[in-house]
Amino acid sequence: MTKILFVTTSPRGESSLSTRVATTLVEELTTANPGAEIVTRDIGNDPLPHMGPTLLGGFFVPEDQQSAEQKAAVALSDELVAEVKSADIIVIASAMINFSITSTLKSWLDHLARAGLTFQYTEDGHPVGLVTGKKVYVVLATGAVYSAAPLDAIDFQAPYLKHMLGFMGMTDVDVVRVEGSIFSPEAAEKAVRDATARARAAAHADALAA
Ligand SMILES: Cc1cc2nc3c(=O)[nH]c(=O)nc-3n(C[C@H](O)[C@H](O)[C@H](O)COP(=O)(O)O)c2cc1C
Repeated sequence: MTKILFVTTSPRGESSLSTRVATTLVEELTTANPGAEIVTRDIGNDPLPHMGPTLLGGFFVPEDQQSAEQKAAVALSDELVAEVKSADIIVIASAMINFSITSTLKSWLDHLARAGLTFQYTEDGHPVGLVTGKKVYVVLATGAVYSAAPLDAIDFQAPYLKHMLGFMGMTDVDVVRVEGSIFSPEAAEKAVRDATARARAAAHADALAA
């Protein structure tokens, strides 16, 4: 059975455009993969803790020497890693906040990037991702337009996300942009319409190719 992990990250609740478009994409993927199991991780409404000394320390202490706090912090990280590893398809709805991903999405990545679990270094120091064979869709919502000049030069969202996913082995990443919503309500509706059409087409094309 196909497993879909759906990660939502917007702090804007019901107003989120990335969640709106990504929800349609997940519906489309479910239609293309009947019986698919969907696991939703809503880190926008339920933000993840940031990496602090407890989590980081816990990563480097053998399990039988971890404090109760370290055990709990590492257990959450283990759960997030397991969710990603067991998914066939991952859909990330990413809101742009202050020119980049939300801090809760950064925290998700910090919980996932674990040496020996999701990446490792070769003897000559090259990183190798260990989370392979996934299809990832990233739905990015931005107020302005970062897919073209001049703002493409300061797009710290898509390149960073793609880099981190690739670092862990997830290299098949399709980016759908909901952009330019800041200009007017009409522009926002058009951005959602265009992105939804693009998301539907991507899901359909992938289903045909499978
Ligand atoms: C606190 C805050 C900061 C934002 N910063 C930016 C920004 O730096 N650049 C931009 O283009 N849009 C920015 N926006 C607009 C959001 O990217 C836009 O509303 C987008 O749709 C958010 O994703 P969402 O709809 O999934 O919540 C910001 C919005 C908020 C609330």
